[in-house]
Amino acid sequence: MKKEDIQQVISELQALKCETLKDVEEARVHFLGKKGVITALFEEFRTVDREQKAEFGRPLNELKQLAIAKVEELRDSLALSEAASGPREDLSMPGDTLELGSRHPVSIVRKEIVDIFRKFGYDVAEGPEIEDDYHVFEALNFPPNHPARDMQDTFFISAGHPNPLLLRTHTSSVQVRAMEKMSLPIRVICPGRVFRNEAISARAHCIFHQVEGLYIDENVTFADLKQAILLFAREMFGPDTQIRMRPSYFPFTEPSAEVDVSCNICHGKGCNICKGTGWLEILGCGMVDPNVLKASGIDPEKYSGFAFGMGLERIAMLKWQVNDLRHYFENDLRFLREFSTAVEV
Ligand code: PHE
Repeated sequence: MKKEDIQQVISELQALKCETLKDVEEARVHFLGKKGVITALFEEFRTVDREQKAEFGRPLNELKQLAIAKVEELRDSLALSEAASGPREDLSMPGDTLELGSRHPVSIVRKEIVDIFRKFGYDVAEGPEIEDDYHVFEALNFPPNHPARDMQDTFFISAGHPNPLLLRTHTSSVQVRAMEKMSLPIRVICPGRVFRNEAISARAHCIFHQVEGLYIDENVTFADLKQAILLFAREMFGPDTQIRMRPSYFPFTEPSAEVDVSCNICHGKGCNICKGTGWLEILGCGMVDPNVLKASGIDPEKYSGFAFGMGLERIAMLKWQVNDLRHYFENDLRFLREFSTAVEV
């Protein structure tokens, strides 16, 4: 073993330059690998005479440390510069999720109802939310002292006027406008937002949505009304749905009825949604009062008709068993997301 051999490797190490991390690894193998030059020197050292060991041992160990340090230094500086010039993003990070919008449950129900009546040949009509007393009450045969005309129930905008402006309390006002404008026979449904001065609770709100319908022709009878409602109920709630009618009162229809459908949850056996009765109330209806026809210039001797009206939040409550009306207005995303799979595109 010669001192120059060690010196030679030291100079080689001092002159060592690497361009890439791959070069560094090759250099490490060349000096320190199993068949590397330093390893070979250690092999040779084993054969050195005992007296000479002290002379070579220390420089050999120093050489090894120098090689390890050099390799580490080169590796660190190259790793840093490669990271700085490479892509800065962490490509393994998950991407941003795309929030998909969905229809509001009330819109889903409105669309379903409108689609059903469109199939039956009904047109869709819309009218103003700010209405006058004439279209909301007077033309619909409300007597002047009817409680609906009270400030308690209706939001008046210009009270005290003979035909004051108000927020419509039902979309029957659109039916009046349809009767004024459309030619006979009339087959129309009127979806829209309505307003009533009610305290907000789980079962009532001051704003809600309706779909009302009107059919006027010659010889329209109560049997036609019953059949239309039955067909609608079966389309909406399933082919086995039964309906029943209970006598009721509305100023604009005579006779009037309230319609129940058989509970589609317990199928008539009785559950907590139908409160054990097996029936769920879904709408009000009746034969258009002759006074209403007359008010809009339609001859009640020649024509007759039926009308019906339902609350969309109520139907949505039945459909999805959401028993607090307020959820439909608060726009809490956690609630709305429940309906995102119900989107029809
Ligand atoms: N307009 C009534 C309401 O708002 C519903 C209805 C419409 C009843 C048509 C009978 C006929 O409650």
